[in-house]
Amino acid sequence: METGALPVELLPSSASRPSLLDEEGLVTEGARRESLRVKVARGLIGEAISPRSGRITAVSQTAKPRISKRIAAIAESATLAVDGKAKALKAAGRPVIGFGAGEPDFPTPGYILDAAEKAVRVVANHRYTPTPGLPELRQAIVAKTLRDSQFKITVDNVLVTNGGKQAVYQSIASIVDQGDEVILPAPYWTTYPECIRLAGGIPIEVFADETSNYCVSVEQLEAARTSKTKALIFCSPSNPTGSVYTPEQVRAIGEWALKHGIWIITDEIYEHLRYDGVQAPSLPVLIPELANQIIILNGVAKTYAMTGWRVGWMIGPNDVIKAATNLQSHLSSNVSNVAQRAAIAALTGDLSAVEEMKVAFDRRRKLIVKMLNEIDGFECLMPQGAFYVYPAVHKVLGREIRGKKPMSSSELATLILDEVEVAAVPGEAFGPSGYLRFSYALSDEDIVEGISRIKKLING
Ligand SMILES: Cc1ncc(COP(=O)(O)O)c(C=O)c1O
Repeated sequence: METGALPVELLPSSASRPSLLDEEGLVTEGARRESLRVKVARGLIGEAISPRSGRITAVSQTAKPRISKRIAAIAESATLAVDGKAKALKAAGRPVIGFGAGEPDFPTPGYILDAAEKAVRVVANHRYTPTPGLPELRQAIVAKTLRDSQFKITVDNVLVTNGGKQAVYQSIASIVDQGDEVILPAPYWTTYPECIRLAGGIPIEVFADETSNYCVSVEQLEAARTSKTKALIFCSPSNPTGSVYTPEQVRAIGEWALKHGIWIITDEIYEHLRYDGVQAPSLPVLIPELANQIIILNGVAKTYAMTGWRVGWMIGPNDVIKAATNLQSHLSSNVSNVAQRAAIAALTGDLSAVEEMKVAFDRRRKLIVKMLNEIDGFECLMPQGAFYVYPAVHKVLGREIRGKKPMSSSELATLILDEVEVAAVPGEAFGPSGYLRFSYALSDEDIVEGISRIKKLING
């Protein structure tokens, strides 16, 4: 901390104390230095090496950190970091295959683009609009929620946000107080724990491994419950595992939360990406009494290939939505109007675009699971949702591969990227080590090429 500090060697000694005030009675520079010298002597300020000049400088012992502790504690999103690294290598001409990105590789459907194009020319869309969202979009969300989940809400239950991510942050910020515990089933999406900590809450991880299809049980949740438990985060279909809880499991978890007065923040962003005919019922539809202690998160990103448009929403009881709207009014105001207009077109249209994407995702899902299971030491379940697979790689750890011995999934992911230029996200980003997450939202050719390279690396 250099600002305002004086080099120690320039501080005057006590033998040559300057006069403290000048003729006009103002504090002189000499007096300021004298004051610093006394503070050094009393231990109120200390010394530091200037990173720029290398000189020893005096610094306040009570100096505040440049970055607040709250924000400095946030880790970069590991999934975006892996994706960024892969894209940078690609841009540098390397033949990298990236399995890191959590986004469909399809373009946004044309009818949505048409709506956005029109909206750009409408002056009203160049202006601020109501913080909670365009009335037509909120209405479209009400209608869509009834159509897709059979859950009846009103516009007062809806707040439109900058992507599902802002809905996650604002939901947690609206209900979690300092010291509150939030139960977080692991493997979890990497953003949840950071948002819990930002709100002063404490994430309590409950881990379910591959032997239980990465789905936590009520017994596990009950074991984690304390008098400080405020909320549970629930995500099905899940990022990162692709697992989908059965309706019986969903009901049991909802009943447990209702019984103990625990809030549920349920993330339904992958609601339409389900395979093999499995269902993923919305919690408050199975248990209507939960409506007063539940927040639903959703968005257009995954269903309509609209990750870049940044439109999401939260649905909750009126008081929560009002509180979160107040927060958003200071944070980001309304979401881009052009993007909101595009979202209206998406939500009021049919679901044929996602049905088409699903055909491709389903084919790739089967392809990648089959190929991953051919790798010696990889064990991959067949997930029934989202566009991720989550193989366990414990059996590969500690093995010598091209002169290196990866001891964690993080080291294995680095080795794979360095040796065969394939990017996957290590399990550490989502909970315990020992797993890799692969997104299969990329072409069949890239899947074959990428997984073949890993197979050659590991199988030899
Ligand atoms: C589980 C989950 N929830 C929410 C989001 C947020 O999506 P977005 O902010 O792009 O709408 C994501 C994105 O990866 C996700 O995986």
